[in-house]
Amino acid sequence: MPLLEALFGLAALGGGYALAVEPRRLLLQRHRIPWPAWRTETRSLRVAVISDIHAAWPHMTERRIRSVVARVLRTRPQLVLLAGDFVSTETLGAIPLPPERTARALAALARHVPTFAVLGNHDWDFDPERVARALEDRGIAVLRNAHRGLRFGGADLVLAGVDDAVSRKDDLDLALLGTLPEEPVLLLSHTPDIHPRAPGQVRLVVAGHTHGGQICLPWVGPLVTMSALPRRQAHGLHRVGDRYLFVSAGVGTTGIPARFARPPEIGMLELVPVEERAHAARAPADAGRREEERALAGDPAFAACPADSLLASPESR
Ligand SMILES: [Fe+2]
Repeated sequence: MPLLEALFGLAALGGGYALAVEPRRLLLQRHRIPWPAWRTETRSLRVAVISDIHAAWPHMTERRIRSVVARVLRTRPQLVLLAGDFVSTETLGAIPLPPERTARALAALARHVPTFAVLGNHDWDFDPERVARALEDRGIAVLRNAHRGLRFGGADLVLAGVDDAVSRKDDLDLALLGTLPEEPVLLLSHTPDIHPRAPGQVRLVVAGHTHGGQICLPWVGPLVTMSALPRRQAHGLHRVGDRYLFVSAGVGTTGIPARFARPPEIGMLELVPVEERAHAARAPADAGRREEERALAGDPAFAACPADSLLASPESR
């Protein structure tokens, strides 16, 4: 039965790759998004996104989280968003890492860049107060149905965050209470399913939760998305009317500690003035890949790139 043997061999090879190789291929997903209400002299704002860390031994250790943090910082972000699921409650054969150790590994982000987080369903399954406290103790602001006004040089940004909608803890009205209807808002949410419910002033939703499917088969796509949105919206940047949705594939795993055709990723969203709309599109794939490889390899030339002209100095509203 040479054909059967070949099929078994192929399946074993694919399984080994999905378990041992792909979960460690950390990519950088770059997108440019036009941001209304910014003056033309505003150059851009670089926003890094990390989601679904699911900290647990041996798949996502404190050391590995530190390496993700180092890679994020090499991309020179001006704002870092953490989209929830810090805790691992159901990864096969994994020992969950206490949230205090995860927060300790993430602390370098907040020391260098304004860093905000929301909680995910696994954080709620574990102990939301403990996870939030661990993050806050390390300088990471947790947005639980709240918003902040941030000032980056000459540009203002309203950043809102909802608590986990999967656990029915979200309150969009409360999160936006006090914002002006004409103010464009960047909304951080663990699940992307909040996007259709968000009012028009929410110009960009940044989410995780789906893991981009985590395991995607050729011609089939993601097996499970854990979202009611169309399957194609389970990953990446999507434009809906004049609003955007970014869904990160996350960095960790849940359930089976494997990934296939959906490697872990750091999101790098560059918000640009509307006048640059004509140029605002996904960066050319090969250019993005080259930059990603240079960034993740620690290329000194890449690391030496000056940060954009905006000065990251958050101001509370
Ligand atoms: Fe998750």
